[in-house]
Amino acid sequence: MEVSHAGLWLHLLLLLAATAAAKVPAIVVFGDSSVDAGNNNQIPTIARSNFLPYGRDFSGGKATGRFSNGRIATDFISEAFGLRAAVPAYLDPAYNISDFAVGVTFASAGTGYDNATSDVLGVIPAWRELEYYKEYQKRLRGYLGDGKAIYTISNSLYIISMGTNDFLENYFALNSQRRTQYSIDAYQQYLIGLARNFVVNLHGLGARKVSIGGLPPMGCMPLERAQNLENGNGCMETYNIVAMTFNQKLYNLTRELNKEIPGLKLVFSNPYFVLLQLIQKPSSYGFQESQRACCATGMFEMGYACQRSLFTCTDANKYVFWDAFHPSEHTNKMIADHVIKTALYKFL
Ligand SMILES: *[C@@H]1O[C@H](CO)[C@@H](O)[C@H](O)[C@H]1NC(C)=O
Ligand SMILES: *[C@@H]1O[C@H](CO)[C@@H](O)[C@H](O)[C@H]1NC(C)=O
Ligand SMILES: *[C@@H]1O[C@H](CO)[C@@H](O)[C@H](O)[C@H]1NC(C)=O
Repeated sequence: MEVSHAGLWLHLLLLLAATAAAKVPAIVVFGDSSVDAGNNNQIPTIARSNFLPYGRDFSGGKATGRFSNGRIATDFISEAFGLRAAVPAYLDPAYNISDFAVGVTFASAGTGYDNATSDVLGVIPAWRELEYYKEYQKRLRGYLGDGKAIYTISNSLYIISMGTNDFLENYFALNSQRRTQYSIDAYQQYLIGLARNFVVNLHGLGARKVSIGGLPPMGCMPLERAQNLENGNGCMETYNIVAMTFNQKLYNLTRELNKEIPGLKLVFSNPYFVLLQLIQKPSSYGFQESQRACCATGMFEMGYACQRSLFTCTDANKYVFWDAFHPSEHTNKMIADHVIKTALYKFL
């Protein structure tokens, strides 16, 4: 009895694994530093992380351009879907179409939905990420042949993750032009319109399974806390409220688009509350520190400012944040697990 049960169970597992692999042939990613794996290494910008201590816990201790000590959420998602353990950057010359056929990211650290956001650090605007995706489709057809390429395009999981920079790097920045043009509500509506166009264009190019990511509690990033002197370095509640209201609008957008566009399966992946939990109760989740980041002083530094600091912590995965703006690998894994359980399971 034991044996045949075990045998049956194994058979079932293999069957599930096989259908999972067949269901999503590739993961295709658009967005900002939350999901960039090194595209910015190939363009002239200071928004980079292809040097140590970035990547010190990544395979081979390699600083790929991910803004993390190790892997990022999309890497864990790819692995959970039975695909590769890391999603390579489209512009990374170490990879080619045979790699990209199962996973690729077009993301660029520092970008946003708004063209004015990508202009701040001279990074890849959202519209150009889509242009690269069109080029990718051509290369995919050449590599797989039309039939298989069309299958891949329409069955892949598309992940969109951006928006934080539109607020923190652009709207709330000193001398922001956007702030003179728009109230915060009107700017959120403007971004929602851009997000809508992005999804509609992606659908027009053949995408069907799409996840749009919500904003994190961005007022609790160490960099924002460090500037919140009047509140004892607590979270900047105004930024958290902006993130939450924007997320509500994004959620509404997903409901609308699913009604308007037959065949589209759009889900909202929300990192807000899971990350807030880790920040508020770090010790319940195996972390020691959630207010300061691991790199350098943990208050202000990211990118080049994290290089060669004597203060960088030894075990990054005891920290919720790796640098002043980005989660540690351990946090990325927990966010990935959460969005798989609450949103992406629909595509597994
Ligand atoms: C991709 O690169 C691998 C090894 O780096 C090579 O073996 C393969 O032929 C390349 N494939 C294409 C389609 O260029
Ligand atoms: C962003 O820039 C691109 C390229 O110049 C342009 O085609 C697009 O219309 C711009 N988007 C908006 C909303 O202005
Ligand atoms: C979302 O949609 C609901 C119902 O359609 C509406 O009541 C609510 O105000 C909307 N929320 C936002 C933030 O737009």
